[in-house]
Amino acid sequence: MDLTPRVVGPAALAVEEAVVETSLRPRHLDEYVGQEQVKRNLGTLLEAARRRGEAADHILLYGPPGLGKTTLANIIARELGVNIHTTSGPAVERAGDLAAILTNLEERDVLFIDEIHRLNHAVEEILYPAMEDFVIDVMIGRGPSARSLRLSLKPFTVVAATTRAGRVGGPLRDRFGAIYRLEYYDAADLSAIVRRSASILGVEIDDDAVAILARRGRGTPRVVNRLLKRVRDHAEVHGESRITALQADAAMRELEIDDEGLDTTDRRLLLAIVQKFASGPVGGAALAAVIGEEVETVEDVYEPYLLQLGFLDRTPQGRVATERARDHLRRLGFEVPAPRRLERVDAGLWDGLTSEGSRDALEDPAGPAGQGPST
Ligand SMILES: Nc1ncnc2c1ncn2[C@@H]1O[C@H](COP(=O)(O)OP(=O)(O)O)[C@@H](O)[C@H]1O
Ligand SMILES: [Mg+2]
Repeated sequence: MDLTPRVVGPAALAVEEAVVETSLRPRHLDEYVGQEQVKRNLGTLLEAARRRGEAADHILLYGPPGLGKTTLANIIARELGVNIHTTSGPAVERAGDLAAILTNLEERDVLFIDEIHRLNHAVEEILYPAMEDFVIDVMIGRGPSARSLRLSLKPFTVVAATTRAGRVGGPLRDRFGAIYRLEYYDAADLSAIVRRSASILGVEIDDDAVAILARRGRGTPRVVNRLLKRVRDHAEVHGESRITALQADAAMRELEIDDEGLDTTDRRLLLAIVQKFASGPVGGAALAAVIGEEVETVEDVYEPYLLQLGFLDRTPQGRVATERARDHLRRLGFEVPAPRRLERVDAGLWDGLTSEGSRDALEDPAGPAGQGPST
C-alpha cells in the first residue's frame, strides 16, 4: 500500500493541514461558496429557528469527503449564535459516552456528529429519544435492583455528517428535520474558492493558473485548497512571487496530476479495471485487492469522483470502466485492451454471462484474457 499522502485525496491529512483548513474555512453562510440550493433552504431554516428562539431542527449533511460538511456544521452554530460540540461516530463508543455529552449541552446548542453512519447500535438507541423528545433513559444500578431513569435534556440541535447516506438507517434518518446533499462544485465555484483562499494566504495568482487548479480540483474545495498550497510551494522554490499558468502546470506535472485531476492511484485503479479485468465488470473486493486498499476506501475515496467524471459505472455485476475512461488512458499513452463486455442486446439474455465473467475475474486477478502488464 502506498502510504504517502495523496495530494488530490479528499480526506483531511495531518495536523498541519488542519491548521490551514481552519484558517481557510468560511465562517458565515454568505462566505460559503456554491451549494446555492442548500444555502437557501438552510438559511430559511436557521432564520425561522432564530425568530422563534427555539432550537433548530436536526440537520443531516451528506456528500463525499472535502465538500464542506464540517464547515457547514460550524457555520450553522455560528449563525444560530450557539456553541458547537463536536464528536464523531467512531469516537462515541458506549451509550454512557453519549449520555454524558447530551446532558452537558446548553439550551439550543449544536451537537455535531461527524461520520454518523459509524455510530454503534447501542449508542443510536440513546440518540432516538434524545433527538425526538429531548430525553434519555439511563440505567441505574445492576442486576435485579437495576431501574431505568428518564432524564430530560435541554432542547438542542443535532447536525450530523456522513459520506454514506445509505448507511444511515431509516429510523435515525427519520429524526432529521432537514437532509441536505452536498454536490461536487463546478469550475466557477472552485475558481472562486481558489481566489478566496489565495487572498487569505496572501498569494498572487493569475486567472489562467486559477483555471488550471479548478479543472484539477475534483469538484472538491479541500482538494483545490491543497493544490493551491502545493503550487505556492512550487512557485516559491522557483523564486516566483506570483503563480502563473506555467508554474501551475509544472507543479501539476511534478505531482503527476493529470488534466482531469487524477493522480497515480486513480490511474492505477482505472488501469486495473481496463487491463486486468478487460474493462469490467469487476467486483469491489477484487478491485480493492488489486490496488491494495480497503473496499471502503475504494468506495468512499476513489470511486465517487470517477463516477462523477463518468469514468466509472456501477452495475449490479460490478464496476465497469467507461469509454471516456478508456479514451483518457489512451490519450495518456497507456495500453488499452479491447473490453470484454458484450453488447447488451437483451439484458436478461446476457445477465448470466456477465456475472459469470465477474466471478472469473474475482478468482483470477490476471483476468480471463490475461491482458496487459501489471501496474
Ligand atoms: N463552500 C465552501 N466555500 C469555501 N471553502 C470551502 C467550502 N466548502 C469547503 N471549503 C473548504 O474545504 C475544506 C474542507 O471542508 P470540510 O468542511 O472539512 O469538508 P468535509 O467535512 O465535507 O470533509 C475547508 O477547510 C474549507 O476551507
Ligand atoms: Mg469533515
